[in-house]
Amino acid sequence: MSAFEVLDRLRTGEQLTAVEIRSAVEGASSGSWSDAQLGAFLMAVALRGLDDEQTSVLTSSMLDSGETWKLRERFPTVVDKHSTGGVGDKVSLILGPILAACGVPVVMLTGRALGHTGGTADKLESIPGLDLALDRERTEGLLDEVGLAIGIATTGIAPADRRLYLLRDATATISSLPLVVGSILSKKLATGAAGIAFDVKVGSGAFFPGIDDARELARRLVGTCERLGVRASALLTDMAQPLGRWVGHNSEINETVQCLRGEGDERLMEVTLSLCEEASRLVGADVAREHLEEAVASGAALEKLTDWARAQGARSTWLEAPDLPMGRFEKSVCASSTGALAKIDNQRVGWCLSEACRSGREIERSLALESVRQLGDSVTSGEELARVYGPDDESASRLASELEACFHVSSSGELPTLVVERVSSEDV
Ligand code: URA
Repeated sequence: MSAFEVLDRLRTGEQLTAVEIRSAVEGASSGSWSDAQLGAFLMAVALRGLDDEQTSVLTSSMLDSGETWKLRERFPTVVDKHSTGGVGDKVSLILGPILAACGVPVVMLTGRALGHTGGTADKLESIPGLDLALDRERTEGLLDEVGLAIGIATTGIAPADRRLYLLRDATATISSLPLVVGSILSKKLATGAAGIAFDVKVGSGAFFPGIDDARELARRLVGTCERLGVRASALLTDMAQPLGRWVGHNSEINETVQCLRGEGDERLMEVTLSLCEEASRLVGADVAREHLEEAVASGAALEKLTDWARAQGARSTWLEAPDLPMGRFEKSVCASSTGALAKIDNQRVGWCLSEACRSGREIERSLALESVRQLGDSVTSGEELARVYGPDDESASRLASELEACFHVSSSGELPTLVVERVSSEDV
């Protein structure tokens, strides 16, 4: 079926058939559909939406455009975890070693920073020597050796998504839910994990800040996985403030190590352990909370992080002293009045940091934001709410003053619920 025929039927209001969806995706990977034709297709999908069955067809066609590793054939309980992105979200880095230490193998192909959110792959590259290029053979070797493999989607995975993603960006169709689901899952499903736990963020720092959109995204992610034969569930978790104590490349790696030493922020650990429980339940391993906590308390999870980093090339300097440098110039972000910390424009916080980190030729890894106060805390005028660590006085001062506008003090405020909802296969 030609691109013109598909688009002509779409224009007249006809429903997209499975064959037509496959033909558009095939056209994206082979190049037989032009950018203009794909742009028109994407806009039609964004305006009219896709039902659950059409979303599955879109996802499986995008998945089939590239390699699939089928890891669960050799590792029947291998799990994956995906976050829809947030500020200070380093959950994957903590969860992987904990689950692996409890005997649940973990594979994660992580992404680069997107918009205002930080990318796990970018953060991991702060570890000197770490090599994130994985193919199926290397991943299987890592799962055999340490039970944990974390990498970045290689060019062989979901090539259709690469082209469609660029065109979505150019045609203002990035936020279309079925397109988001197809894009995320075409890469996630490629490794062949047996179960995927999703962390769908809600609140001002999330891609879809509102609860209704977040719930629908969770429902579609879980439902599409289940339709395609992969066990899945999702937690909707708070992103109204940065997660954990630190935001910034080096500082988030340091915070990961602190968490695995048993010195983690309470809310960050609660999200991490809840997702560990979800992931292990999906593959029938049902690791209890006490067992997960014991993996941290005994040092087994930290040892797993070290073994994994060594296996993926981390240099001995980091392995022996895993403390990455932070900016030397500290500036406080202060409360403008007395009251309670009522609101944080967390998306703006993410943008301020990502722009500051990327203002030079290379990512500024030592730049960091430390949360001192959290939502709902009582504060007095001029009190420190957060602290910026910059590589020089000027950049630290500039960032601190930009961030001051993101923190709002009012007469009352509340600490948001952390794990807001759970979406399982029974809900989709
Ligand atoms: N991550 C992706 O890979 N794709 C999207 O569309 C959104 C988040």
